[in-house]
Amino acid sequence: MNDDIAKIKEKIDVVDLISEYIQLKPAGINHKGLCPIHHEKSPSFMVNRERQSWHCFGCSRGGDIFSFIQEIEGMEFRDALTFLADKAGVQLSRTGSSVETSQKNRVKAINHEAAKFFHYILTKLSQSKPAEEYLIGRGLRRDTIEAWQIGFVPDQWDLLTKYLLKKGHAIDDILASGLAIKKEGADTRGMRGFYDRFRGRIMFPIWDAHDTVVGFTGRVLVETEHSGGKYVNTPQTMLYDKSRVLFGLNKAKREIKKQDLIVMVEGQMDVIACHQAGMTNVVATSGTALTEHQCVLLKRYSNNIALSFDGDAAGIAAAKRGIDLLVEMGMNVKVIEIPEGEGKDPDECVKKNKDVWFAAVANAKDIMNWYFDRSFAHAHIADPKIKQRIANELLQEISRIPYAVERDHWLTQLSHRLQVDMSALREDMVRILRQGQKKVAEGVHRTSEVENIQALSVKKGRLELLLERLFGLILAYPDTLTTIPAQFFSIEGFSVPLYTDLYETIKLGYTQAIPVVYTEIREKYASSASENPIDILLFKGESDFSELSQTQRIEEAHALAVQIKLEWTREKRASIQSALSQAESVGNRVEVDRLMQELRKFV
Ligand code: UTP
Ligand code: MN
Repeated sequence: MNDDIAKIKEKIDVVDLISEYIQLKPAGINHKGLCPIHHEKSPSFMVNRERQSWHCFGCSRGGDIFSFIQEIEGMEFRDALTFLADKAGVQLSRTGSSVETSQKNRVKAINHEAAKFFHYILTKLSQSKPAEEYLIGRGLRRDTIEAWQIGFVPDQWDLLTKYLLKKGHAIDDILASGLAIKKEGADTRGMRGFYDRFRGRIMFPIWDAHDTVVGFTGRVLVETEHSGGKYVNTPQTMLYDKSRVLFGLNKAKREIKKQDLIVMVEGQMDVIACHQAGMTNVVATSGTALTEHQCVLLKRYSNNIALSFDGDAAGIAAAKRGIDLLVEMGMNVKVIEIPEGEGKDPDECVKKNKDVWFAAVANAKDIMNWYFDRSFAHAHIADPKIKQRIANELLQEISRIPYAVERDHWLTQLSHRLQVDMSALREDMVRILRQGQKKVAEGVHRTSEVENIQALSVKKGRLELLLERLFGLILAYPDTLTTIPAQFFSIEGFSVPLYTDLYETIKLGYTQAIPVVYTEIREKYASSASENPIDILLFKGESDFSELSQTQRIEEAHALAVQIKLEWTREKRASIQSALSQAESVGNRVEVDRLMQELRKFV
């Protein structure tokens, strides 16, 4: 496997790979961009071609091409390996644990088999006539049913489960796929007490962006009081995470890139109807509000998104959080409005008159204009209370925009339309931003993944921060080493082993007057499971000091070394003093004498 990894790394360049996801710009010896894993407003994501590594100072993640794919595609290492091997055209050597052993792969196989099974039933069996007629009645063509692998499962207890078992799949894997449910007290050996999750439903496979069937959504054919929800989805499984999946993305991603526009609708029938009508840059969430993961995923394909959602109060409330996220990420958000009487959703609108739908998308309104129109509708702006209400509403939305010029544009608009001074608006904007911050501080605000990580990371001491800075500087700019004052090297070591190791390496370089070569120590700290700490220091040094001149860097190294020596001495003294009072309290004279002597060295 190590051979495979080396071969793949030889073929795939980290900068090229990451450039498929985000725009990277050269920054000194590195490349820099907006982190594609967490959402940020200024770039703290760095890539180094020579070391083949990346690091984000915003979310503290980093590593090599494999960890990048794991993070961005939500894959485990094994899958990232297969994924990159495919890309590199490298044939993986079969190790003892062959490809089929991971349960994830077995669940994948089950999903694909189930999709084929449902589709076969719909298209080939006479008992599916009503289902087929229903779909044709809704305007779906046969080639569409084929392309989307739409299927049907009759209302029977365990048709699919039995079929999969007969095909040789293990019940544990079938359960793990979410397709079967275990009854209370079921007997695994007798294979009794398992039943299908989906019964009597039209079945839609849900693919991820790479054409893997990760789950299903099933729509009832005949709604009765026993049929449960109109749509039933695969529950959370090792493959299906509804917060990460976007229905239709596998079929839409090319056109999204080509048109540089994402069209986002609410239901899978809406997606399919749009694609059938020739608009193929359309995706949907599967019955959830848009999540941060999905926003980050979408931003990879385009920065422009047009949304169609149910415009009533409940619909807007449900969509609001997702819209806020998109705006905060700096995406250009537009709202599609289906004209009155032209259908309640895109599916109906397309069926009635597809030109109306295409026009609605083409004329989608900028989200800020949409907010303005809503706030100003039927408002008597002569009333100062109403003025304030409108200002409050709209400043809230404007404050989300991450770009100053754009914010200013909308502030000017607001000032004109409200007939109030810009300075009054700015004053209120500051108040609103403060309230937002207070909420964050109180923890009322949503805690994103990134905020959680930051809260969890242990607070570093002053000495550690200084060391991080100095070592980053020396590793990135080795010739700064020569001007470090000699007294620095009387330090005995540090509590963090990595820093002691680095210190010894640097000391050796200093006493022998050779520049520090980090390759050896980098190798020593290389681990396949986590990011190389030497790389983090290198990225830090490169980004913190790239703007300085060589003279400034030398001065900085000198100053840092002096501060570290002082801080180290201070800590040393404190620890001897505390040992001393301990020895005094138990009356250990010998120890007291020894410690006194020791202490004298550090005053
Ligand atoms: P809608 O109720 O608007 O359904 O739900 P729809 O898409 O118009 O469905 P049709 O046209 O009647 O077939 C929108 C989306 O919300 C999710 C589904 O993804 C659906 O497409 N949903 C809805 C559920 O997950 N469960 C439900 O019970 C209902
Ligand atoms: Mn519908």
